[in-house]
Amino acid sequence: MAQKKAFITGVSGQDGSYLTEQLLDKGYEVHGMIRRASSFNRGRIEHIYRWGKERNNFFLHYGDVSDSSNLNRLVEKIRPDEIYNLAAQSHVKVSFEVPEYTAEVDALGTLRLLDAIKETGLDCKFYQASTSELYGKVQEVPQSEKTPFYPRSPYGVAKLYAFWIVKNYREAYGLHASNGILFNHESPRRGENFVTRKITLGVAGVKAGARECIKLGNLNARRDWGYAPDYVNAMWLMLQKETPDDYVIATGEMHTVREFVEASFRHLDISVRWEGEGENEIGVDGNTGNTIVRVDPKYYRPSEVEQLCGDTSKAINALGWKPTVTFDQLVEIMVKADRETVKSR
Ligand code: NAP
Ligand code: GDD
Repeated sequence: MAQKKAFITGVSGQDGSYLTEQLLDKGYEVHGMIRRASSFNRGRIEHIYRWGKERNNFFLHYGDVSDSSNLNRLVEKIRPDEIYNLAAQSHVKVSFEVPEYTAEVDALGTLRLLDAIKETGLDCKFYQASTSELYGKVQEVPQSEKTPFYPRSPYGVAKLYAFWIVKNYREAYGLHASNGILFNHESPRRGENFVTRKITLGVAGVKAGARECIKLGNLNARRDWGYAPDYVNAMWLMLQKETPDDYVIATGEMHTVREFVEASFRHLDISVRWEGEGENEIGVDGNTGNTIVRVDPKYYRPSEVEQLCGDTSKAINALGWKPTVTFDQLVEIMVKADRETVKSR
């Protein structure tokens, strides 16, 4: 069988890096889009790049999903069998600061790629990185593919456009285009300003004596957190189906930010005692009495997504997918990795 070619936008991100590793392992030739930046932005894929260069199966191309001519040229040149559109301004809080840019990249970027496929007439499967943020102010618990959407941020609204334009191109032009409605997924490669990574880096810093405490926003927010490598495997499974469709990918278990903090400290033998309320709440080290967690309202969002919990039965039945890492294992993996990060800094 001929070697399959994949094109990944967002290759330098958390998911892009794991997906690249998995596709190379499956024998794919992988092409990734990278942005020109004034500082090094390939930290997550540097190891793969060196390895892939030797084997001549991993290639990077400069580009940006806000640039149609670049996208058209790349799709025409690479002629991929599968496209994974992971590129996004992916930070929800930041999207309130840069709403127009977020729409340009997260919404219109998706349209540009779909249109490039349509115009080249390429027989190519398309994966869209949709998100549980579409559910926002949740209309039912847990959320399935049938739950109505109610996004709560410029990010969520931009991704809502992307979700529907994927469906529209599927129905209008017969494209093999699928939406993966992925709930939060984390790893040691998670960006440092997402809450899980901020916590695991923070607790490792406190344990090492490199910092006094961690400052967080809404401790009561609840999320359905899974392990990123499991989730990128689901992306691939979706594109192996004969017909395109939309799938929820989640663990079905919900935890608060507060629980994530407690579990992280627990892995370092520190117990947290909570005192006070709201902005005045603090987390105190049960052994030393030191304040190790504080609330800072600057991390609150203008409109918050209070809870997310996914019903992944469709993916379990149709894709044979299920999560392999529990909440506690995820916390342990991340804390362990960040103890090393703190030592090396
Ligand atoms: P991430 O770590 O923030 O990675 C985002 C990637 O997109 C990076 O490679 C980034 O490049 C690239 N990018 C940003 N703007 C771009 C542009 N204008 N043109 C081209 N590339 C651009 O995100 P992630 O966690 O891997 O998530 C991957 C995708 O899944 C995103 O679309 C995200 O919205 C979505 N998603 C994530 C989760 C989750 O829990 N992780 C859940 C649901 C959906 P630089 O490295 O140069 O910044
Ligand atoms: N980032 C951050 N920083 N979030 C905090 C903090 C903090 O200091 N303190 C509390 N939180 C709360 C946020 O208010 C939110 O309710 C929750 O922690 C999770 O925040 P993030 O880790 O930033 O992730 P997110 O859920 O907003 O978005 C992520 O998941 C989405 C899928 O549901 C991103 O990866 C999105 O790209 C993705 O679509």
